[in-house]
Amino acid sequence: MPEAPLTRDEAVADVDALYQPSHDEFARQRMIGVMRNHAFHNLRYAVADEYEKVVAPRLAKEGKPLPQDGHAIDKVMQSEHLYRFYSAIRYNSQEMMYLSVQDPVLRVAGDMIEIGRDATARNPAGGSLRLAENFEVPRYVTAQDIHLAPGCFHSEYTADDLTQGAILQFGSMVGVGGMAHRKSAGVVAQSVSNWLTLKYPDFKPKRILDIGTQSGKNLIPYLDEYPDAELYGIDVAAPCLRYGHAKAEHEGVAIHFSQQNAEALDFADGYFDLIVSSFFFHEVPVPATKRILKECYRLLSPGGVMAHMELPPSKLAGPVLDFMWDWDTQNNNEPSYRAFRGQDPAQLVAEAGFAPANAFEVHVPNRDSFTKEQRVAFFRGEAKAPLHGKGSWFVFGGRK
Ligand SMILES: C[S@@+](CC[C@H](N)C(=O)[O-])C[C@H]1O[C@@H](n2cnc3c(N)ncnc32)[C@H](O)[C@@H]1O
Repeated sequence: MPEAPLTRDEAVADVDALYQPSHDEFARQRMIGVMRNHAFHNLRYAVADEYEKVVAPRLAKEGKPLPQDGHAIDKVMQSEHLYRFYSAIRYNSQEMMYLSVQDPVLRVAGDMIEIGRDATARNPAGGSLRLAENFEVPRYVTAQDIHLAPGCFHSEYTADDLTQGAILQFGSMVGVGGMAHRKSAGVVAQSVSNWLTLKYPDFKPKRILDIGTQSGKNLIPYLDEYPDAELYGIDVAAPCLRYGHAKAEHEGVAIHFSQQNAEALDFADGYFDLIVSSFFFHEVPVPATKRILKECYRLLSPGGVMAHMELPPSKLAGPVLDFMWDWDTQNNNEPSYRAFRGQDPAQLVAEAGFAPANAFEVHVPNRDSFTKEQRVAFFRGEAKAPLHGKGSWFVFGGRK
């Protein structure tokens, strides 16, 4: 018999309900969201067009050699007005996205922290939060404000602070137009889990681990496909874990969050059947990426699967797409981005210990953008799945 849902008194309060931007704050956020979307979806492609239709022909006419890779295109384009305009709009709207939610979060920081404490004390949904003492956040996280988010993922300013987790969540909502916690990025997990059920129809993971889980948004949707699975999420950032734990306990979802570096995890060999991540590896230097993939191999049970959603590698892109995607390397405080994309994911998977025949690289269609029939047709290769960013997510991984 299914368990009765928690009553209002038992459930942890919703930390998000405290966030109430004023009229003017909300108007500013809408404006920033529009600017960012315009830069991301329109100006970005206009810049690529400018390169292909104006700048490359001009170089050819002048008898100059054409740039051979994305980095070289970037150097040529830096003196073009449109590219500079695009970069200025994108950089500033990205930074303002987070700045615009700071005040409304900080006004209610005390009450948010109390909800987080209540969640940790009671765990009514059955999850847990395990933070490490004297934890060393890796230098590749602390050295810069990744994504231009002031305070990055890990900064805490008072005891039990979770505000940075809330700021990142609400900031990203400004950028995507205001979707709720479960939906805002959970679309990746919805899509990947759905694809996994097509690829491995008999696969029923008992324990699922999400690395770099932040607040668990792209972990929760795995329950839709695997309702009996136990969920685990690890991250180096305590404020994000506290925020995610408070949200999960409010939503009645049991997640075991812990603060750990994915390069060396404290779980036993073979503890997980499924290990996932999303938007994670492009922020990690290549040597650490290799250590993390080896950890995934160690932690998987025989027959276990790992599936990482990431940016597609350069080998699948070509110079113009590389130029467009690698903008973040220099401009969005993500210095490992280009180096990660320069790797061959299938080779990384094989080097981590997986049999090369069990490695995969695939474009997974966004679940809600296509019908079930269309998704099955993509899966069977009867139709070509769209590229990452055009309706699909790039995913790489392997089966042990
Ligand atoms: C872009 S966020 C990923 C967000 C999340 N997976 C999602 O889909 O919403 C990257 C996360 O990885 C975490 N991180 C970075 N390096 C890490 C490491 N070595 N071990 C564990 N977490 C790490 C950061 O703290 C951050 O929360």
